[in-house]
Amino acid sequence: MNTPALRGSRILGFGHHQPARVLTNDELSTMVDTNDEWIRTRTGIETRHIAGPSDTVTSMAIEAARNALADSGVAPADVGLVIVASTTHRDRAPYTAGRVAAALGLSPSAAPIDINTACSGFEYGVALADQAIRVGSTDIAVVIGSEILSGIVDWSDRSTCVLVGDGAGAAVLGVSDEAQIGPVSWGSVPHLEEAVLVSGDPERFSQEGRSIYRWAITEAADHARAAVAAAGLTLDDIEVFAFHQANLRIIEPLVTALGGESKFVVRDVVESGNTSAASVPLGLSKAWARGDLPEGVPALRFGFGGGFAHAGQVVTTPVRVR
Ligand code: ACO
Repeated sequence: MNTPALRGSRILGFGHHQPARVLTNDELSTMVDTNDEWIRTRTGIETRHIAGPSDTVTSMAIEAARNALADSGVAPADVGLVIVASTTHRDRAPYTAGRVAAALGLSPSAAPIDINTACSGFEYGVALADQAIRVGSTDIAVVIGSEILSGIVDWSDRSTCVLVGDGAGAAVLGVSDEAQIGPVSWGSVPHLEEAVLVSGDPERFSQEGRSIYRWAITEAADHARAAVAAAGLTLDDIEVFAFHQANLRIIEPLVTALGGESKFVVRDVVESGNTSAASVPLGLSKAWARGDLPEGVPALRFGFGGGFAHAGQVVTTPVRVR
């Protein structure tokens, strides 16, 4: 069989989209029995964006992808694969990636794929897109995380409603002579299989917060180290840390365990809350758009959540064309 010469992929650019409505901790305090101090000290969250009537998982995915394509200087016609990671899209068919492909005017030969590995969905999507590019299935792929968690949270349950937000983030991947996306280190945690649920009628998000927290601060660092080792690097080489944005009280100990205190750390959970599969690309894209994200350096991304799935990967951040 024909197989192309071995090649790699790289990130060409980022894009994101967040709904206009910003919900503060003080406003939440008028809705449920909570307060700004509890939310800040237990989670680090200060605000979150909440979808309006015209925002959908699909509309936000389209906007994020459009922005990522513009950022990358890539024409929609050149995209051969679009992957949307989401836990909160409503329709089984047409599924989100199909709608995104149609709205962006992608070529009929472009493959649209939805995946759902909950909060680690973006990392799984990038791993699959990288592999598709490596074997020659496409030269350009768009990977998007898009979520409306506000639509599946119980707004009278203070233990969950203060945590979540809505938004979308996207990255464009292109073929590269030199691999700039490292091998993925992925897997799941069987004893936490039921720890995150999106179920019921109406569908509701619930989680065993304490069990996940314990796992995240004791075991996640080893999985993140495995991703660095798989890339043939050491932690000293990593300049950017981008972990699932669930809780600052998880992000900070992870960064400390990995010796990353002096490096660039994505802390978008403070502004955006937990946006599940959107959280890592949203945080990276916002930092990129602000001009804060260090360019052309190894970034460690690590996602974890429902399933209970996790995935980590080192990628080289893009370099802006000046
Ligand atoms: N405001 C005020 N008090 C509250 C609130 C609130 N919003 N929520 C809970 N409390 C109270 C509880 O009732 C409890 O009171 P009690 O001691 O009188 O019983 C107390 O605060 C402590 O509650 P805990 O749930 O034990 O709080 P904890 O410190 O564990 O923080 C949290 C909860 C933030 C959810 C934490 O466990 C966590 O972040 N876990 C990890 C979650 C995660 O990473 N999920 C990722 C996968 S899911 C996804 O990303 C979509």
